[in-house]
Amino acid sequence: QKTPPVFTIGFSQCVESDAWRKTMLENMKRELAFHPNINFIYRQAEGDSRKQVSQVKELLQKKIDLLIISPNEADPLTPVVEEAFSKGIPVIVVDRKISSPLYTAYVGGDNYEIGKMAGQYAVNALKGKGKIIEVTGLPKSSPAIERHKGFSDAIKNYPGLQLIHMVNGEWLNQTAKSEFAKIASQYPDVQLVFAHNDMMAHGIYEVYKNSKQPQPAIIGVDGLPNAGMLFVSDKKITATMLYPTGGEEAIRIAVKILNKQHVVKENLLQTTVIDSTNVRIMQLQAAKTLSQQQQIERQQTMLAEQKRIYNNQRTFVYILVTS
Ligand code: FRU
Repeated sequence: QKTPPVFTIGFSQCVESDAWRKTMLENMKRELAFHPNINFIYRQAEGDSRKQVSQVKELLQKKIDLLIISPNEADPLTPVVEEAFSKGIPVIVVDRKISSPLYTAYVGGDNYEIGKMAGQYAVNALKGKGKIIEVTGLPKSSPAIERHKGFSDAIKNYPGLQLIHMVNGEWLNQTAKSEFAKIASQYPDVQLVFAHNDMMAHGIYEVYKNSKQPQPAIIGVDGLPNAGMLFVSDKKITATMLYPTGGEEAIRIAVKILNKQHVVKENLLQTTVIDSTNVRIMQLQAAKTLSQQQQIERQQTMLAEQKRIYNNQRTFVYILVTS
């Protein structure tokens, strides 16, 4: 049997502290387990665009065969990605985008569509009439721009709906919570808050939990089983839009590129609304997927063990026949 060539993939992640990014990395590793011929070098930039630029430069010096990147902010990361691409290194952009077409493939959820679905949800929940506050992610990151655009487009034909304030929560629970707490009392009649992710949505929930003001409807994004789905089933938030991490898909696309197979440039992942009407079934589904994955992992461990025993026995037989 021919041994496959060895490749090195460098992965530059913008930040790793949250559950969604941890899930992305786990998803990548799960897929990588099928490709023992791939070395994986991982760097994360703690949400600092300048740090991420220098980490990408470091990865390029390590002679990687392919770069996967989730850029913290689009503009600051664009030149270094263009540099990699121009040197002939294939680049897969995940989740957040760069401001240039110079990359090999993009994979991630459709953030415009997510914003639009959240907007339609708001239209229905408020029956076309009411005041809304939006809590955004980092204003220069593409999902924040696209989620805002989709949301505005969905509500703009309803003159009874007013977007009365925007808060920059920087994608972070603490920032969203403290920034929102500063303004909450100025808007006692707000009926809905759209937060660009579930961590920030939870922050808004916490603000109201600690105040006497009635809690408005809260919409988040991500829908992780151990976060957004739980917040919905615990009735802390009203709804969340599922935002798949794209981790497995990114590795599958990388493998194809490394094997010189054709890949599609834009790979948009499916999304869906999760609220009280379907959260139970989504949780059951997620639990089932998890147990199937654990089973696959057990089988992989068993196979590795069998292979080890087989190799030992082969060495033993070899020693026997040659001595
Ligand atoms: C995690 C995160 C997610 C969000 C995504 C947008 O770091 O903030 O919650 O959906 O990044 O890029």
